[in-house]
Amino acid sequence: LRNIKVSEQDFGLLTYDPGYTNTASCKSSVTFLDGEKGILRYRGYPIEQLAEKSTYLETAYLILNGELPNQTQLNGWHKDIMAHTFIHENIKKLIDSFHYDAHPMGTLVGTVAALSTFYPDAKNIHDQACRDRQIWRLIAKMPTLAAFSYRHSIGLPYVYPDQSLSYIGNFMSMLWKKSELQYQPNPILEKAINVLFILHADHEQNCGTSVMRAVASAYSDPFSATSSAIAALYGPLHGGANEAVLHMLAEIGSVDRVPEFIKTVKSGEVSRLMGFGHRVYKEYDPRAKICKTLANEVFSVTGVNPLLAIALELERVALQDDYFISRHLYPNVDFYSGLIYQAMGFPVGMFPVLFAIARNTGWLAQWQEFLVDPDHKIARPRQIYCGSEVRDYIAVDKR
Ligand code: ACO
Repeated sequence: LRNIKVSEQDFGLLTYDPGYTNTASCKSSVTFLDGEKGILRYRGYPIEQLAEKSTYLETAYLILNGELPNQTQLNGWHKDIMAHTFIHENIKKLIDSFHYDAHPMGTLVGTVAALSTFYPDAKNIHDQACRDRQIWRLIAKMPTLAAFSYRHSIGLPYVYPDQSLSYIGNFMSMLWKKSELQYQPNPILEKAINVLFILHADHEQNCGTSVMRAVASAYSDPFSATSSAIAALYGPLHGGANEAVLHMLAEIGSVDRVPEFIKTVKSGEVSRLMGFGHRVYKEYDPRAKICKTLANEVFSVTGVNPLLAIALELERVALQDDYFISRHLYPNVDFYSGLIYQAMGFPVGMFPVLFAIARNTGWLAQWQEFLVDPDHKIARPRQIYCGSEVRDYIAVDKR
């Protein structure tokens, strides 16, 4: 395009596509997403089947390797991950140094970035065995970092990883273990965390993943790249939305205030209806459907989250309202996931952290795919310059 010029001095043509709504930044075989039809598949497998039948760790293997593992591969994968769940004692001290009310996403950004200083071998990104090791480390250590920062925030001693438990069971143990006895995860809650993590594991070229690819395109190490992706996910328009949904529901306070709230959203008085709308889905987000069903299973163990009634009423009113219908705004995955996490006992600040742990798999799969892609190039978009023409410097006393 740059060669299409009106004259020699002309800059040439460029595509201008704010938010990249019409731009494919890469080729990928990880995730298929059809937002018009509400379809999501990892490596060809429908999200509904994976959520029903798989575990997060098995789905992580699929996303990273392209195929479901056989039993031997699955056992080996589990062993490799669990072997890396411990963190260096100095990282523990780093977590200690955060203020007790530090947002756990800020702590996660900092501690994941710090991991790069503990594993300088991670720079050897063109070596497959080295990449595998960093993938094990990141998938294994992120739940430990998250659980430690949670225990730090409530002033409880850290619970070290229990490698005899499942991946999710160990995470629950590090979060909630209260005695010397081995933690026994509730199977319904363990399954629910598996499902929520599967739903969040990858979502093609979303903001965080695009950041991961952009940073990786400069051949940065995977810890630094992942930390940048977490920072992107932290934003309220992205992974911070499930936290924002809970704040919004609490602020609405009761079902009878829903119509009045919807009015303020439509008039632009408050920001947006959080957990609604999606850049790609112009249909009901298939992940939100699964979350809605999952909520009832979790509430059978935890008791019903009182904010559920407000959420259901918001959805009912919005889906009958022309404003939302004409803009194709439906609940997204974050609309119900926060309610489930809250019922399990997670504070709202931990919601995006849970999202980050789950999405880590997708980031790493896309990172690896990018590194071996023969078309890979450093991310370097151009711009449409709208500033001043050339002018001469004026001395400060003449301005
Ligand atoms: N509430 C009210 N109006 C909305 C909402 C919403 N949640 N989302 C979009 N709109 C409106 C916009 O005001 C705009 O209206 P207009 O045409 O009259 O100006 C129209 O719908 C299109 O909105 P855009 O901002 O152009 O849509 P975009 O694709 O850029 O935004 C986004 C997608 C950021 C997710 C948006 O829907 C939003 O802010 N939702 C709330 C935050 C949220 O839930 N984020 C989580 C996304 S899922 C994820 O990251 C895991």
